[in-house]
Amino acid sequence: MLHTHIKNIHFNTPFINASGCWCREKNELDTLLSSEWKNDSVISKSCTLYSRDGNMSPRYKEFKHLSINSMGLPNNGIYFYLNYFNNINNNTKKKMISLSGLTLDENIIMIETLFSNYNQQASIDGIEINLSCPNIEGKPQIGYDLDSMKTYLTKIFDTILKFENSDSSCNRMLIGVKLPPYFDIVHFENVSKILSSFDRLGFITCINSIGNGLVIDTDTESVVIKPKNGFGGIGGSIVKPTALANVHQFYRLLGEKVAIIGCGGITSGEDVFQHILAGASMVSIGTELMKQGPLVFNTLNEQLITIMKQKGYQSIEDFRGKLNYL
Ligand code: DHB
Repeated sequence: MLHTHIKNIHFNTPFINASGCWCREKNELDTLLSSEWKNDSVISKSCTLYSRDGNMSPRYKEFKHLSINSMGLPNNGIYFYLNYFNNINNNTKKKMISLSGLTLDENIIMIETLFSNYNQQASIDGIEINLSCPNIEGKPQIGYDLDSMKTYLTKIFDTILKFENSDSSCNRMLIGVKLPPYFDIVHFENVSKILSSFDRLGFITCINSIGNGLVIDTDTESVVIKPKNGFGGIGGSIVKPTALANVHQFYRLLGEKVAIIGCGGITSGEDVFQHILAGASMVSIGTELMKQGPLVFNTLNEQLITIMKQKGYQSIEDFRGKLNYL
């Protein structure tokens, strides 16, 4: 009932972890790949060419309606994630790697690494290029600098197409971009113009956390995380209206050319329903996965099916993008 697709890849359910959540270490990835949980796809922690420890702790905190993080890209390096996914046998869940190089050149080297190690039998199903990490001091979010974004994507897609021209079996790999939240209609339009100039772009994931928020503890009169004087990316249910706005604006502007993975503020099947109504083909779960663990996928699965049955919908395509206006 919950099957969906992006380009030519089919998913039995629309659920995936948000990159960064339960996906840095082997045991976490093993858990997300277990058939016990109703996510049909798994994405790695955003990685760099070499492993990193990330920022100082405490660097993640949860509250009732939000989370704040400034992890600083702790990850095991691209070879770890590539080897991990390449060595899994008989697992039908789809596997994606999130790339977050600290420079354009680092991203290009990682893409060359991925494509030159592409192994048709076991390999990954997609890559998500992260243009929106807010937590590295001195490194602005590329998604907020449209000239840089265009330069990055031009060089990235040139590199990908070079590989695909010599080995067309790579063509099935999904290529996506993770975007920061936008707040102005002109920004949506300008970003869409850039994105739609790349025919090979298969999906966008929106939104990343709302960058550089500040949570203050009244008792201690202090910030709650250590890095960057307490500033960090905000997730959780309070970001849902911003997430829905981004999903829907990009759905209107890009149409069916580019699929959307909705991310932001999902805590219930009703939230999933709203993301799909706004245009999402899949949804990723961040803060709520951190809070509840992977059981959240099964709960969301049940709740979404209940809503669809109540409304008489047989598949996601029956209502995807069909938001009504008054
Ligand atoms: C981190 C945070 C992000 O929002 C992101 O997209 C990538 C990395 C981090 O701090 O590790």
